[in-house]
Amino acid sequence: MLRKRLWICAIILLLTAATVAALNDKEQLGKNIFFDKKLSINENQACAACHSPQVGFTGPDSIINILGSVYEGSIDGRFGNRKPPAAAYAGDSPVLNNSTGLWIGGMFWDGRATGWTLGDPLAEQAKGPFLNPMEQGLPDSACVVYRVNDSDYSNLYKQVWGNESSSVKWPEDIKKVCSKEHGQANLSSGDRNITDDAFNNIARSIAAYERSTEVNPFTSKYDYYMKGNATLTPKEMRGLELFNNSTTARCANCHVPPLFTDFSYHNLGIPKDPMNPFYYEYRWNGMGGGINWIDHGLGEFLNTTEYQNAAVNNYGMHKVPTLRNVDKRPHKSFIKAYGHNGYFKSLKEIVHFYNTRDVPGAGWKGKHWQPAEVSANVNKDEMGNLSLTPQEESDIVAFLKTLSDGYIPKK
Ligand code: HEC
Ligand code: HEC
Repeated sequence: MLRKRLWICAIILLLTAATVAALNDKEQLGKNIFFDKKLSINENQACAACHSPQVGFTGPDSIINILGSVYEGSIDGRFGNRKPPAAAYAGDSPVLNNSTGLWIGGMFWDGRATGWTLGDPLAEQAKGPFLNPMEQGLPDSACVVYRVNDSDYSNLYKQVWGNESSSVKWPEDIKKVCSKEHGQANLSSGDRNITDDAFNNIARSIAAYERSTEVNPFTSKYDYYMKGNATLTPKEMRGLELFNNSTTARCANCHVPPLFTDFSYHNLGIPKDPMNPFYYEYRWNGMGGGINWIDHGLGEFLNTTEYQNAAVNNYGMHKVPTLRNVDKRPHKSFIKAYGHNGYFKSLKEIVHFYNTRDVPGAGWKGKHWQPAEVSANVNKDEMGNLSLTPQEESDIVAFLKTLSDGYIPKK
């Protein structure tokens, strides 16, 4: 009897392992890279430091989230200027374009990882953090290649992308160069071509992992409900109907299922978040740091491109984030922050903001809503005064909580 049960257990385990660990070699390589702390200047920070699976591939530190909600890089005291969005469910964002007259696609809150060079915004994005002085902080892309070559998964790299990068003649001081903030590895031009290619391959491997079923499992209660394998409670059901209703809550106008985004850009009129440490980082004034810093979002990025004419009309615009896993947290008292600057500390708060932003005297916890950080281009058609009742706000929040992966259906 016991033996039979053990057998059944073993078979179930094998079956679940087969469905969960379905990573191919390229995805597995991307996963190793995504979690490798050595790929940062002080060998102390991986992508996962700011994009962790337990919270839906966003920021995993409750204390940081309740304060400024921006994360420190590999170098102590260097904070970024925006809240990490989810690295999951991002792989379908198209190359940034305005072919419909509206800007759609790209990566980052402001779209600046456009996909214009690699044809894939997700892969292009993955090259940024390694070299960002406020994130992993390495001085040269060749350092990323060097450290992947030196890793315990270097054979997997060769299996997926070939042997070429093993032929690079690394300069003797490469370790030293890669542990300092400024400088470049002294490589022949042929070797430089090889490391440039390898760096792109590293980025493509990360993108493959970020697009894998492990990162995008579609295992929320909502997904099982859509397949007929779960029942929503009456409250969740009312929330879903409001969410989809284009004349009441209007959420699905922009958060289009099943990804809960249409990759477009809007200014919700979110106030400044004075707790953002970036305001006190005067050394980054060149990058906008300091108390007078204003986050102009997409418009500011367009200003640096050939689409300067479009900049002003896109000031204050940020990309619609997916709402999948928006409530995923390791325990109930864990705080998550919402919005590009993490201004909101709960789903209740942000839903109340959508409903009452423009209602005189309205606010949160006894404080009136503060003015928008960027007053131009604020969306007044689809939000600000939705006339939802407190019950309806709470129904929408209940629905948002059905979007967390890892639900186990009863059947
Ligand atoms: C120190 C924290 C930090 C680290 C480390 C980090 N990120 Fe991020 N990530 C962020 C922040 C902050 C943003 C948003 C920045 C912005 O919009 O300007 C972001 C944005 C992203 C996005 C864009 C998602 C979207 O929908 O636009 C992806 C994908 C991503 N990161 C993946 C990665 C990968 C891959 C790595 C490792 C190579 C990485 N991140 C390392 C903080 C971090
Ligand atoms: C006009 C488009 C639009 C509509 C309508 C809309 N949203 Fe959003 N939503 C956005 C954009 C854009 C952001 C990011 C804005 C920013 O941070 O500056 C966002 C952010 C969010 C976030 C924060 C997610 C995160 O990871 O930080 C939540 C939660 C959210 N919306 C829920 C809703 C709900 C619920 C509704 C309906 C009541 C709704 N949205 C209606 C465009 C929209």
